[in-house]
Amino acid sequence: MEPASRIPLAVLPTPLDEAPRLSEALGLRVLVKRDDLTGLALGGNKVRKLEHLVADARGRGCDTLVAAGGAQSNFARITAAVAAKLSMRCHLVLSGRPPERRSGNLVLDDLFGATLHFAGSGDWRILEEGVAKLAAELGAGAYPMPIGGATAIGALGYVLAADEILAQLGEPPDWIVVADGSGGTHAGLLAGLPASVRVLGVDVSRPPLPHAERIPALAAETARLAGRARPAGELHLVDHTGPRYGAVTDEAIEAIRLAARSEALLLDPVYTGKALAGLVQAAREGRVRGTVVFLHTGGAPALFADGYSEAFV
Ligand SMILES: Cc1ncc(COP(=O)(O)O)c(C=O)c1O
Repeated sequence: MEPASRIPLAVLPTPLDEAPRLSEALGLRVLVKRDDLTGLALGGNKVRKLEHLVADARGRGCDTLVAAGGAQSNFARITAAVAAKLSMRCHLVLSGRPPERRSGNLVLDDLFGATLHFAGSGDWRILEEGVAKLAAELGAGAYPMPIGGATAIGALGYVLAADEILAQLGEPPDWIVVADGSGGTHAGLLAGLPASVRVLGVDVSRPPLPHAERIPALAAETARLAGRARPAGELHLVDHTGPRYGAVTDEAIEAIRLAARSEALLLDPVYTGKALAGLVQAAREGRVRGTVVFLHTGGAPALFADGYSEAFV
């Protein structure tokens, strides 16, 4: 398969910053890869994925992006923003029922002109079935994407991000820590990194097909698409989802406070707060050592969403 082309949308490279106060708190050298600063529409990891996905959509003659996710989905927000910027249409299938008041990412989806469809459920399969049904109704111009844009084409964005991190650091880090929602970011990193760099995926979603199965398969497919060697390393996963995807956990709130008060970094309660909680625990248990890159994948708009903002006051 030919590698898909790319439509540049992100401000790259994103900074890779030393985090001295966080390092001191964790007893490790921690650097933060600032993919919250990818630039488009409040940034985040989804901008890198969509550079490839939208190039594929355009290449197939599609003019309508169709995505799904939680009501506070960052992928939905960035898809809506990309469609607006590239003069495409966007339909979003979101979990639950229409809220009485829109907050956080939902305000932005609407601002970018996306058409919102509420699935009445947060079930992963129902959301993806909603995308397939809608795409069939919309016809040939529709470009349906799985939750999180987790295809090999989307994951190519993180093959390039892996190259970027290695070039910025000058030597491979010991660990990279990332939140696993759909697993596409983790898969792309595995496809791009040498096996000596271990990636700790912090599960925040517990998908129907577990990450332990999803990620290696997607990483292998991504590596093939990128013309890289098949990833060989061990898969490292810890689960910090809490009771369910999107649930507020005490550990995530504590980690969000730690990042804000040590490095003035804004993490979020659904993804990056849980990812840092995973790193804090792994550091305490001595499972992660040496030089660690914490991948900040964005998500701060959820801090301002009903159901989350109350957790901090
Ligand atoms: C802010 C943020 N971080 C991390 C992730 C996880 O990325 P992935 O879906 O590629 O696992 C997502 C999306 O799911 C996200 O929105």
